[in-house]
Amino acid sequence: MAFPVVDTEYLKEIDKARRDLRALIASKNCAPIMLRLAWHDAGTYDASTKTGGPNGSIRNEEEYSHGANNGLKIALEFCEQVKAKHPKITYADLYQLAGVVAVEVTGGPTIDFVPGRKDSNICTKEGRLPDAKKGAPHLRDIFHRMGLSDKDIVALSGAHTLGRAHPERSGFDGPWTNEPLKFDNSYFVELLKGESEGLLKLPTDKALLDDPAFRPYVELYAKDEEAFFRDYAESHKKLSELGFTPR
Ligand code: HEM
Repeated sequence: MAFPVVDTEYLKEIDKARRDLRALIASKNCAPIMLRLAWHDAGTYDASTKTGGPNGSIRNEEEYSHGANNGLKIALEFCEQVKAKHPKITYADLYQLAGVVAVEVTGGPTIDFVPGRKDSNICTKEGRLPDAKKGAPHLRDIFHRMGLSDKDIVALSGAHTLGRAHPERSGFDGPWTNEPLKFDNSYFVELLKGESEGLLKLPTDKALLDDPAFRPYVELYAKDEEAFFRDYAESHKKLSELGFTPR
């Protein structure tokens, strides 16, 4: 499906919403959970059936109550404040814009954002998002199903440079880096260092080290932050546009 062309008025609203999101994220320090919301709306995509994807369906209780989405109600409510001021903007666009702004305001790369996503109320069944307790074959099953590559898997995993796990949400605990509100390449630096007191490594994070196709990207991104930013921005754009072909 191609992006519908949005009119100038819609583009103006997007610009205003972008500013509101910057202010909201700065005042609430909620960049990590906003990024996680964008990813969990998009990451349900199935390229073979063209179902799921960044379509705003996560706003429905049926979907946000999936175990994988524990805690995301907080981010949905933050987005609701912006939606109230800019009702024209679809939820699908708003969540992806929030993800892009979250990366930008924490010091990450600029990600190209093309508006025009449509909202859907069709929720995918639970089980399309990755299970953190599994390994490389599972990561490939999930991300290749979306139409994403091995390189996308490693680059996007670098989003764990932001935020932390919460025992009451996922059963895991702690941040991946010492500065969880700064978007940089420290996720990869820490991953290569091995276990550090107080820092988290999920089984799926460690899988990136052990797999011969993933590991070279971990090594590259740990030593070359520019390479990480370039590839991250490209992979994030792909994730945010699953099921859409921008004009
Ligand atoms: C947090 C799993 C990929 C962004 C988490 C948490 C888990 C997890 C278990 C902790 C949730 C909590 O307890 O609050 C995974 C797995 C992935 C993956 C298994 C497979 C590769 C991604 C991707 C992105 C992302 C692709 C974004 C592009 C985040 C962020 C947080 C997070 C920003 C922190 C949220 C917060 O601080 O509240 N992830 N994730 N993750 N994830 Fe992932």
